[in-house]
Amino acid sequence: MEIISFIPSWFLPATLFLFLTSIFMYVLRWRSSSIKLPPGPPRLPVIGNLHQVFGSKDNIYQNVWNLSQTYGPIMLLHFGTQPFIVISSTEMATQVLKTHDQKMCTRPYSKASKRLSFNYMDAAFAPYNDHWRDMRKVLASEFLGAKRIRSYKNVLKHEIECVVRSLSLNSSSTTVNLDEMFLSLINNVVCKAALGDHTYREKTFNGRTLMEIVDETAVMLQGSFSDNFPAFAWILDELTGWNRKLDKCFNDFDGILQMVLHDHLDRKDTKTSDQENDFVDDCISRLTSDEIKALLMNVFNGSTDTTATTMIWAMSFIVKNPRVMQKLQNEIRSCVGGKPRVDESDINKMTYLKMVVKESLRLHPPVGFLMTRECISHCEIGGYDILPGTKVLVSSWGIGRDSRTWKEDPTEFLPERFENIQVDFGGKSFEMIPFGEGRRGCPGYNLAVSTVEFTIANLLYLFNWETQVGKNEDLDMKLAGGFPFIRRATPLCLVPNKYN
Ligand code: HEM
Ligand SMILES: *[C@@H]1O[C@H](CO)[C@@H](O)[C@H](O)[C@H]1NC(C)=O
Ligand SMILES: *[C@@H]1O[C@H](CO)[C@@H](O)[C@H](O)[C@H]1NC(C)=O
Ligand SMILES: *[C@@H]1O[C@H](CO)[C@@H](O)[C@H](O)[C@H]1NC(C)=O
Repeated sequence: MEIISFIPSWFLPATLFLFLTSIFMYVLRWRSSSIKLPPGPPRLPVIGNLHQVFGSKDNIYQNVWNLSQTYGPIMLLHFGTQPFIVISSTEMATQVLKTHDQKMCTRPYSKASKRLSFNYMDAAFAPYNDHWRDMRKVLASEFLGAKRIRSYKNVLKHEIECVVRSLSLNSSSTTVNLDEMFLSLINNVVCKAALGDHTYREKTFNGRTLMEIVDETAVMLQGSFSDNFPAFAWILDELTGWNRKLDKCFNDFDGILQMVLHDHLDRKDTKTSDQENDFVDDCISRLTSDEIKALLMNVFNGSTDTTATTMIWAMSFIVKNPRVMQKLQNEIRSCVGGKPRVDESDINKMTYLKMVVKESLRLHPPVGFLMTRECISHCEIGGYDILPGTKVLVSSWGIGRDSRTWKEDPTEFLPERFENIQVDFGGKSFEMIPFGEGRRGCPGYNLAVSTVEFTIANLLYLFNWETQVGKNEDLDMKLAGGFPFIRRATPLCLVPNKYN
C-alpha cells in the first residue's frame, strides 16, 4: 500500500511507454537489418559513385553497363547523396516495367521539371496521379490520334520534299550536314503539327527564337546540383546562377507560348470551317493555358531531339555498312517501282528497312536510360528490397547489347538478326526497350518509328550517300559523351549523289 502510493502516478504509463518504444525500436532495427539492398560498387563520401559513372566521359551509359557486369543486373549507385537502382537486363526490366509497374511508375521531383511543366500539369514529368492520366489521354488523342497523325504525315511529306529539292539543286560534290538537316526537318514538322505554322520557329521573344528557347528547356531539364545533393546544394544553384537561368528560361518559354495561344484565340472567331485545326486549336477549348503549355513542352522535348538523333544514327550505320546500304536500296527501289517518291503505303512492304531502324535503335537508343522513375511502395525485385522513394534507372543501352539476349555479336550492326527474333515496341517484348514500356512508356513510339522509316526511305531512294573523304566503311562513329542524348562526336557530313 505504502509502496504503491509512493510511486508517482506517471510512473506506470511512462514505463509502459518506454517498454513499448524499445520493443518498437527493436522491431524496426530488426526489420531494417533484414532489408536487403541491391549490391553496388563502393562509393566515396559526398559524391557517391559519380566518379565511376562520369569519370571516363565518352559514354556514361557504357560505364554503367560495365559496372553492371560486375555487380549484376540490379545495382545500387549513388549520384551524389541520392540512391538510384540501375536495371540492366531484360528479366529485371520486365519486373520493373511490367510485374511491378504500378509501384514503379511515378517520376521524381526536380526543380526544373516542376517549373517547366507548370507545376506538373504535363504528361511526362508529373507524378502518377489522375491528372497525369488525363493529360496523357489528351496527348494520345489530340497529338497522337489518327486525325493529327494524318496531318502530321502530310506535313512530313511536304518537308521531305523541300529537303529533297534543296539537295537536288546542290551540285553533286556539296557536302551536307545531316545532323542539322534532320533536326531542322523534325523541328519544322513538329512545329507545324503542334502550332499550325512553322513560321513560329522564327518567332522571337526577348530576342530568342522558339527553338532556341525549347533547346534551353531541354538543357535545364537535365537538372541542377541540388537534385543530387539536396542537403546543401541549393546554395550552389543560387551561386552558379542556375536558379536565375531557370527563371529566365521559364519566363521566355511561358511568354512565347502565351503569344502562340493568343494568336490561336484571336483566330478562332475568324476561322473558316475548311481551315484545319491544329493541336493547340483542339486543346484550347478543353484545357487551361498552363496545361496546353505543359503538353507543348512534352511534345517539343519528347519528339524533336529523340527522333532526329535516331535518324542520324540510322543513317550513320547504313553508310558505314555498304552491304546494308546496297541491300536496303534494292528493297526500297523494288518496292517503290519507278515512282518519283516513296509513298507512305510503300513502307509496309519494306521489311529490311524496319529491321535496319530497329537495329540502329538497339545499338544506339537516343537516350541510354529511360526517364527516371521513382518507387511508390515497397517491392521486391530479383530478391532485393526496393524502398519507396528510390529512384530507378533502366538502361536501354545495356539491355540492347546484353549477350544473354543478343547472342550473335551483340555490338555488331546486323539487321538480319531480326529475322530470327521477333521484337515489338509497345508492351510485348523487353529484349530492347528504346521507348520504355508500361504505364509510363513512350506514347509516341509509333509516330517516331514511322517518321524515321519514311525519311530514311526517301533519302536512300533518291540518293546514294558517300563520305566526304575516304571510304564509307571508315566513317567515324565516336560518341560525344554527354547526357542524356547519345550523340555523334563529329557531325554526320555526307555527299549525296542523285540516283537515276
Ligand atoms: C525516337 C523517338 C523517341 C524515343 C527514343 C523516345 C523515348 C522515350 C522514353 C525512353 C521515354 C520514357 C519511358 C519510360 O519511362 O518507361 C519516353 C517518354 C515519353 N515520350 Fe518519348 N520517345 C520518342 C519520341 C516521342 C514522341 C514523337 C513523342 C510525342 C509526343 C514522345 C512523347 C513522350 C512522352 C509524353 C513521354 C512521357 C510518358 C509518361 O511519362 O507517361 N516521345 N520517350
Ligand atoms: C567496358 O568493358 C569492356 C570490356 O569488358 C572494355 O573493353 C571497355 O573499355 C570498358 N569501357 C569502359 C567505358 O569502361
Ligand atoms: C545546298 O547548298 C547551300 C549552299 O551551298 C546550302 O546552304 C544548303 O544548306 C544546301 N542544301 C542542303 C540540303 O544541305
Ligand atoms: C526531355 O529532356 C530531358 C533532358 O534534356 C530528358 O531527360 C527527358 O527524358 C526528355 N523527355 C521528355 C519526354 O520530356
